[in-house]
Amino acid sequence: MKKVYIKAFPEYSIVYDDLLVSREGGPGPGDVVKVFHKNGKFIGSGFYNPHSKIGIRIFSFEDEDFDYSYIKKSLIRAYNYRKNLGFENSYRMIYSEVDNMPGLIVDKYGDGFVFQVFSIGIEIRKNLIIQALKELFDPIFIYEKSTGHLRKMENLPYISKLVYGEIPKDYTIKINDIKFKFFVGQKTSLFLDQSENYLKLLKYAKDGFKILDAFCYVGGFGLHFLKNYNVEVVFLDISETSLDILRENLRLNGIEKGYQIVNADIFDYLKNAKEKFDFIILDPPAFTRSKQKLENALRAYDRLHRLAISLLKEDGFLATFSCSFYVSQEHLLESIKKVSKNTNFVVLEKLYQSKDHPWTLKFAESLYLKGFLLKRFFH
Ligand SMILES: C[S@@+](CC[C@H](N)C(=O)[O-])C[C@H]1O[C@@H](n2cnc3c(N)ncnc32)[C@H](O)[C@@H]1O
Repeated sequence: MKKVYIKAFPEYSIVYDDLLVSREGGPGPGDVVKVFHKNGKFIGSGFYNPHSKIGIRIFSFEDEDFDYSYIKKSLIRAYNYRKNLGFENSYRMIYSEVDNMPGLIVDKYGDGFVFQVFSIGIEIRKNLIIQALKELFDPIFIYEKSTGHLRKMENLPYISKLVYGEIPKDYTIKINDIKFKFFVGQKTSLFLDQSENYLKLLKYAKDGFKILDAFCYVGGFGLHFLKNYNVEVVFLDISETSLDILRENLRLNGIEKGYQIVNADIFDYLKNAKEKFDFIILDPPAFTRSKQKLENALRAYDRLHRLAISLLKEDGFLATFSCSFYVSQEHLLESIKKVSKNTNFVVLEKLYQSKDHPWTLKFAESLYLKGFLLKRFFH
């Protein structure tokens, strides 16, 4: 048996390499090791990686192997959790540590799967995962989209390829009642983490609203508004590719009017815009992935909020999000307070990633998407 002894109990499942004091049995990269405190107390079973700052990723607090039956058990448990909460067509099915499979993301897109790997332990077992997905769910395709900064940190090369089946031509999936064209885009394809927020914001809209879906990507928020109300939406994104997909999504949902599509940098657009909006949605990319760059990220939020507020009507709504772990809810509120000198806001909703990306108490890092829905208020 391969064992590793560590000098302190980890917060949860991530064990940084500076905690490791000794190894037994000669563990190699990706091997399953039994983790013990140096006083001899058993902690759990994890993947060992001597080439990463994360020396061990614990996948179970029991004495277990990461074998085919463990993989199937974990997939079934994760699937049932989502099914019981009412998730149906497209959602995140495996969310890494939270689903006891550290370094693995599996997103379900209709009858197909896209997965992403960012730990060596999963990397060397991914054929077992593909096999289990096939056996349990009989998908039409499985695509590997192993890109992103976490992969680099684990010293693993980028991979983006179809590993099973075929993606049908013009394949579409559904989020809530909206149809989306499937494509291999940012993340695993779509921002599934906003699926519940699309519905939460909807109930505040009214016919006649002028709405800015800034950072719209392929239109998640705006499509929901247009499908349910007689509104005008300005879709804006810096990526031309995502706007091409947006055009297809509008067509798929039978939306022919009530929108404008703008390919621009949001900061330029907001500086020059003349019209005011009833509803502005700010869902930017992570402005920082490290604590060191937090100050820059906060300055970017201040600028963004200041410009957006100046274009908000008297009793307009503002939804603002942060998907960076380091930019917290408090940071967002502080920024709004700071830049809205002559205005006051009321908080209508606290917003989080949808529940298919479970935020668990013992793994603080599992919460990354935070936001607020605010409304302009009298002083
Ligand atoms: C988190 S995603 C938005 C997801 C989208 N709200 C949804 O629900 O699918 C961020 C988007 O911002 C876009 N983006 C990044 N920098 C931008 C900028 N300076 N101006 C406009 N769009 C930008 C990216 O192309 C990406 O589509």
